[in-house]
Amino acid sequence: MKLTLEDSLKRFSETFPESKRATESQSDRITGSFSRRGSTFGPHGIFVEKGEGAYIYTIDGKKLLDLSNNFTVNVIGHSHPAIVKAIQSEAGKGFSFGNPKSEEYRLAKILTDRIESVEKVRFFCSSSEACHGAARFARAYTGKDKLAKFEGGYHGFIGDLAVSAHPSPERFPGPETKPVPLPDSAGIPAYETNNVIVLTQNRIDICEKLLRENAADIACLIMELQSAAGGVVLLEKEFVRAIREITKELGIVLIFDETVSLRADYHGFQNIFGVKPDLTVMGKMIGGGLPIGAVGGASEVMSVIEDDQVRIMGTHHGHPLAAVAGIACLETLTPDAYTRLNGMAARVRDELNAWSLEKGYAFTLYGGHSVLGYAFMDKPGRQITTHRDYWYYTIPHFTHIMALEMAIKGYYPVHRGELCFSLPMSDEDIKGLSDTIKEIVDSIYA
Ligand SMILES: Cc1ncc(COP(=O)(O)O)c(C=O)c1O
Repeated sequence: MKLTLEDSLKRFSETFPESKRATESQSDRITGSFSRRGSTFGPHGIFVEKGEGAYIYTIDGKKLLDLSNNFTVNVIGHSHPAIVKAIQSEAGKGFSFGNPKSEEYRLAKILTDRIESVEKVRFFCSSSEACHGAARFARAYTGKDKLAKFEGGYHGFIGDLAVSAHPSPERFPGPETKPVPLPDSAGIPAYETNNVIVLTQNRIDICEKLLRENAADIACLIMELQSAAGGVVLLEKEFVRAIREITKELGIVLIFDETVSLRADYHGFQNIFGVKPDLTVMGKMIGGGLPIGAVGGASEVMSVIEDDQVRIMGTHHGHPLAAVAGIACLETLTPDAYTRLNGMAARVRDELNAWSLEKGYAFTLYGGHSVLGYAFMDKPGRQITTHRDYWYYTIPHFTHIMALEMAIKGYYPVHRGELCFSLPMSDEDIKGLSDTIKEIVDSIYA
């Protein structure tokens, strides 16, 4: 039977009736029904009751294999015993103080031991805050104001970082050689939007020209090695190396946002490419599921905050519960654990791509490490190397059907077309996932 979006939407609501009811009833007290709007999936959210290991359990009585993992946070799954134990024992000692506490130092030690470019760390409550903080460090260090970023790069929702994160062709973002900065939301002032130089991924000619033309004003370039929230695009190693050379020559602070990509390797994705940024933003998994963000980097750049030249304050910064949860998570993530995680994702990607090729489908799984993108392209064999490739060549309508159908069949992806793996997933889970994707793709092309 050929699937249509209309049918899938209908069956989605029939599968999750309590979630539909909760979405509708909560709108009288919470604008938009719930705060986590990014997880809006279909016509309504999927409300969760609990998470255990690789699974979430919904208020509709459904059990789903979690392939969102709170947008990549839960790398060792839900309610891991080591994290639960760490939180419980810390909570008994009190957990909100206007004093320093040393748990954050233990977490900082793990991060600085593992990530070569990170000599010093400062903690925040989210990566949005941390990205904002990193840009401020860079501005103080260079004495310059402008920010460079890639089209489709998401670095949180704050200020000029939220420019051109999710642009679309309908909004006329200019030529690829000079993308026009577009605010991601109403309420971002023009002076912030105009403060951004927007670059194109994997196109060193375009990047070099724009960086050189604006070098006197650009404080920092913030980037992901494999973008996540704005759509999966894996950068080429040679491109990243060239960016490092150019930014060094031009006195631009290079910030790698590893909020998600820290999942890729015990020493961070930067280790795979062998490129050291000046600053690294971390978040999500380093808090083991509790709110956190961090900026780390070379002592010289980080020194701008040492004497309060740069003032950054936060009531909850360095929170001991997030620190102990993060320590438990990172201690569980041994080098073998990364190999297993990345191996699972590679197995699914390679098997499904071989299958799709054989069938002559334009469906593809792409990206590296334990976060994959999936997309229905305009023709078989098409590659995604820039954010614009995604706009121009994918069929979002099919991606939407795919996400709805996966949820109906017991798999919870990131709705925009991402699969995020977690350590407790079994071989049986992975096989079930591959078989289910094949079944849905067959029905979409039927
Ligand atoms: C690469 C990247 N940077 C920053 C952020 C913002 O993180 P937070 O939601 O913790 O503010 C995200 C969130 O998805 C992200 O993926």
